[in-house]
Amino acid sequence: MKTPNMKEAAKRTKNKVETHNYELADNLKNIGTNKKYYIKTYGCQMNVHNTENIKAILENMSFTESKTQTEADLIIANTCSIRENAHNKVFGFLGRLKGMKNKKPELITVLCGCMAQEETVVETIMNKYKWLDLVFGTHNIYRLPVLLNNVMIKKEQEIEVLSIEGDIIENIPVKRDSKYKAWINVMLGCDKFCTYCIVPYVRGKQRSRTPENILKEVNGLIENGYKEVSLLGQNVNAYGKDLDINYTMSNLLEDVAKTGITRVRFMTSHPWDFDDSVIEVIKKYDNIMPAIHLPVQSGSNNILKKMNRRYTKEVYLKLVEKLKTNIPNLSLTTDIIVGFPGETEEDYQCTLDLVHKCKYDTAFTFVFSPREGTPAAKLSDDISAEEKNKRLYQLNEIINNYANENNQKYKNKTVKVLIEGKGEKGNLMGYTETMKLVNVDGDESAIGHIVDVKIEEVKTWSLDGKIV
Ligand code: 5AD
Ligand code: SF4
Repeated sequence: MKTPNMKEAAKRTKNKVETHNYELADNLKNIGTNKKYYIKTYGCQMNVHNTENIKAILENMSFTESKTQTEADLIIANTCSIRENAHNKVFGFLGRLKGMKNKKPELITVLCGCMAQEETVVETIMNKYKWLDLVFGTHNIYRLPVLLNNVMIKKEQEIEVLSIEGDIIENIPVKRDSKYKAWINVMLGCDKFCTYCIVPYVRGKQRSRTPENILKEVNGLIENGYKEVSLLGQNVNAYGKDLDINYTMSNLLEDVAKTGITRVRFMTSHPWDFDDSVIEVIKKYDNIMPAIHLPVQSGSNNILKKMNRRYTKEVYLKLVEKLKTNIPNLSLTTDIIVGFPGETEEDYQCTLDLVHKCKYDTAFTFVFSPREGTPAAKLSDDISAEEKNKRLYQLNEIINNYANENNQKYKNKTVKVLIEGKGEKGNLMGYTETMKLVNVDGDESAIGHIVDVKIEEVKTWSLDGKIV
């Protein structure tokens, strides 16, 4: 049994990151024969992509996917720890899982992902969720076959969570959700240590994959007909800074654009690492999409400092201006936290002022949620929950107004949409270059293609249009 340790997880040394290759031993290739799995995924795209890996690992062990929980022989919760409500949802799900396990004792139950990396979560599981069969973390997904085999043989609770800086595992198989757009991890972990954030503890140190391995993955996707890649990382603009070659995000972005893939996206950007060379590359290549997610978190310099964000409101606004003047038709989105400990009305007004200046296409807004083990969780917090919710509500109203205002620009315009599949409202759905969701009227033969769509109806969260 290996349990997590948050102090160990916060360590950063100069030790070289090792790269290993995933391999599946022959004796584990059939242990899932006649067994079905079901995975419930919480959290960000990184976790969604991890689930795509877990699915492929299981299918290589002969498990098949079940569309329902009731038919499954193996149920996995791939969890998120970014905020308390993510935790609550998972514990709610575990409650239901216990009911299922009571009815069907041979059901194998698993918890993995970010929550597994938290000391207190694993303590709770060991005390109150003894029926849970397996817990593994973010650093050892590649160990799933061995761990699952142990559980099936020993029939006792197995916990293996590594609180290490982390390495890189290449060649992990992947079963992608989409046939047209793909997530590609370009870097793992984060070294920024924003004071509210648990990511650097649960995902390890910043480690970039080599350009060769990333480009090989992109070229493989092109050969298989993929139209779009999204380069993923907690802080993609820092890509390459940990490699001992002179190669950064702008080099990577340019090389990926040069492969000729139709659409390239990247996320998430930290303003601190966003240098001009990246803007130059975006300008140069039409296949790099004009959509940037640039979390600001707060518009108050006082709060930004307490968050350890390493920039001021003024520096952020200058970057936004540079992006808007250099990238025509830019869609800009952000993340904002309200109610950080000590946030005064004046601080909050600074955030609103920044939102009015940036006029975001949309924003993900959150009330501060203390995460155990992070520095901000220890700060005294004298703002009432009522006040925090009031701030969030008011902020959302403003954000929604700008979202609607930005969408109005699309009325009667013809835009390029990658048709991903059948939609809920129009018969098809897809996204514009600027990441706007479009409900599209058109023939199903358009699925998987980029088509011209005339926008007829504009809403705050989506556009309606027809293929022309
Ligand atoms: N409380 C509230 N929001 C948080 N985020 C990260 N940590 C916290 C926290 N402790 C938000 C940030 C980040 C997004 C992914 O989640 O805005 O950009
Ligand atoms: Fe968390 Fe993002 Fe800050 Fe890293 S850069 S610590 S992932 S908020």
